[in-house]
Amino acid sequence: MRQACTQSVALSNGVKMPQLGLGVWRVTEEGLAERSVLTALEVGYRHIDTAASYKNEHEVGAALAKTSVPRDEIFVTTKIWNDDQGFETTLSAFERSSQKLGVDVIDLLLIHWPLKDKFIDTWRALEQLYKAGKVRAIGVSNFQIYHLEDLFAHAEIKPMVNQVEYHPLLTQVPLLSFCNDHQIKITAWSPLMQGNLEIPLLQEIAAKYNKTAAQIILRWDLQTGVITIPKTVTPARMIENATIFDFALTEDEIARISSLNENKRFGIDPDTSLL
Ligand SMILES: NC(=O)c1ccc[n+]([C@@H]2O[C@H](COP(=O)([O-])OP(=O)(O)OC[C@H]3O[C@@H](n4cnc5c(N)ncnc54)[C@H](OP(=O)(O)O)[C@@H]3O)[C@@H](O)[C@H]2O)c1
Repeated sequence: MRQACTQSVALSNGVKMPQLGLGVWRVTEEGLAERSVLTALEVGYRHIDTAASYKNEHEVGAALAKTSVPRDEIFVTTKIWNDDQGFETTLSAFERSSQKLGVDVIDLLLIHWPLKDKFIDTWRALEQLYKAGKVRAIGVSNFQIYHLEDLFAHAEIKPMVNQVEYHPLLTQVPLLSFCNDHQIKITAWSPLMQGNLEIPLLQEIAAKYNKTAAQIILRWDLQTGVITIPKTVTPARMIENATIFDFALTEDEIARISSLNENKRFGIDPDTSLL
C-alpha cells in the first residue's frame, strides 16, 4: 500500500500531487490530529489536507516533526481563511501557517472560499508566495466557473487546483469540464458524503469486488482523475480507504456511479453562502 499511496497526478506546473490524501477537518480533540497524521503516514499516506480554520495545523506540524517519513515525500495542503483574505493579511497568514506546520515551503496553498471583493488581492499574495518559492503550488477552493473567470481576468498565474465538494451525489460535470479545459485539477472534499454511504448501487458494486462503498467511491475518484481527501480518525478506516489500488471499476460502473448525481450538497453552497 505504501507504494500505491504515492500514485500522483501532475499539476499544470509539473508538481506531482498524491491522488489520495487524508483530510483533517473537525479533528479538534487535543492530540487527535497529530495521532491521526502519524498513523496515516505510517500506513502509507503521503498527502495531508488541513486549513488554518481547522485549528490543527500545529498538530499536523507536530506529526511532520515526529514521523520518520522524509519531509520531501509528504505533500501538505493548507488554506487561507476568510478573515485573512487580502494581500498583506494573506502574506501574514502564510507565515503563521508555515510556522505552525513547521515547514519553510508549503506544497499547496489554497484560497479557502471565494470571498467577494477580496479574493483577487488574496490571489496576488499567493502568486507572490509562489514566485518567491515559498509554496510549490497555488489554488482555490469552492470556486464556481464564474469565480474562476473573474480570477482569470486579473491573474498572472492560473490556479493549479480547485478543491470542491464532489461525490456521487454531486458530480459537478460543468465545473469539472471547465477546470479540465484550464488544466486545473479538482480535489474532492467530503468525498465520502460525510459518512452517508447507504446507496444501493454502491453496495452492489462493492459486493462484486469484495470492497466497501467507501472504497468504491474513492476508486471512482481515482479513475475519473480527481484527487481525493477522505477524512477519518479511525486507523482501520485509514487502511480501508487506502486499499483502493488493487482493483479497477469498469467504464460502465464508472458511468453508473456518475449517474447517481442529484446535485446534492452536504456542505455549504458557494452560490448562496453570502460570501
Ligand atoms: N475546502 C473546503 O471548503 C472543505 C470543506 C469540507 C471538507 N474539506 C476537506 O475534505 C476532507 C474530507 O471531507 P469531510 O471531512 O467533510 O468528509 P468525508 O471525508 O466525506 O467523510 C468523513 C466521515 O466519514 C467517516 N468515514 C471515513 N472513512 C469511512 C469508511 N471507510 N467507512 C465509513 N465511514 C467512513 C468518518 O468517520 P471517522 O473519522 O469517525 O472514522 C467521517 O465521519 C476534510 O477533512 C477536509 O480536509 C474541505
